[in-house]
Amino acid sequence: MTSDPPAIEVPNVPRHVAVIMDGNGRWAKQRTRPRAFGHRAGVGAARRIVRACHQHGVEVLTLFAFSQENWQRPPTEVSLLMQLFVRTLTREVKSLHKNGVRIRFIGDHRDFPASLTQLMADSEALTADNTDLTLVVAAGYGGQWDIARAAQSLCADGLPITPENLEARLVLPELPHPDLLIRTGGEKRVSNFLLWQLAYTELLFVDTLWPDFDEAEFAQALSWYSGRQRRFGRVPEGT
Ligand code: IPE
Ligand code: IPE
Ligand code: MG
Repeated sequence: MTSDPPAIEVPNVPRHVAVIMDGNGRWAKQRTRPRAFGHRAGVGAARRIVRACHQHGVEVLTLFAFSQENWQRPPTEVSLLMQLFVRTLTREVKSLHKNGVRIRFIGDHRDFPASLTQLMADSEALTADNTDLTLVVAAGYGGQWDIARAAQSLCADGLPITPENLEARLVLPELPHPDLLIRTGGEKRVSNFLLWQLAYTELLFVDTLWPDFDEAEFAQALSWYSGRQRRFGRVPEGT
């Protein structure tokens, strides 16, 4: 957080893991199947990683499911993805609830189908009191949208745009910033994900395509993270 930086630390388990789940299309292409096949396989990987976070004691998992820029994909792919969100949420919400997972959605949902936004609201309400793991699904999300919206809301209230004020108006201000970001699929970019919140996040880029990402590789990512020294701009004591 901007106002109260944590101590210099060699971290153990990250409190908050954020994931850019990339590579579904290429995974399908390798198998000469349509992109939809890769997206469906990607749901399986998401399920595995939710479970793994739970087991490792991660507090928050944020999954980038659909960016604002993804609206520019062919309409057939966009509508397939919307259908897949509806189907996946319908199928998974009960077991997530049973396992103590709280679900939250971030992003601009104005152009989402009403059936989906209703399901999202219902899932958030059902799981609101769960405390084991918070699962944040970023859908229709853009980091620039998040920051611009926060700035706009400060302006509307006549408040100065300071880091602390902005921070308080971003999505989910009560959650810690990501400690670890994993991007699968080999690209080394953040693609307009949590731009503000990634200020001091440890970034891990892996070549594995998202549908192949499994518990073992997630455990390796945590192990890599535990070897990082987080300094937040300072020097370790005794230096
Ligand atoms: C990520 O996989 C899923 C979404 C963006 C919805 P992609 O669909 O981007 O897969 P690639 O990058 O084309 O392989
Ligand atoms: C990022 O992947 C968005 C999600 C994983 C939801 P993209 O495939 O859209 O990113 P670019 O276009 O390669 O940067
Ligand atoms: Mg991609």
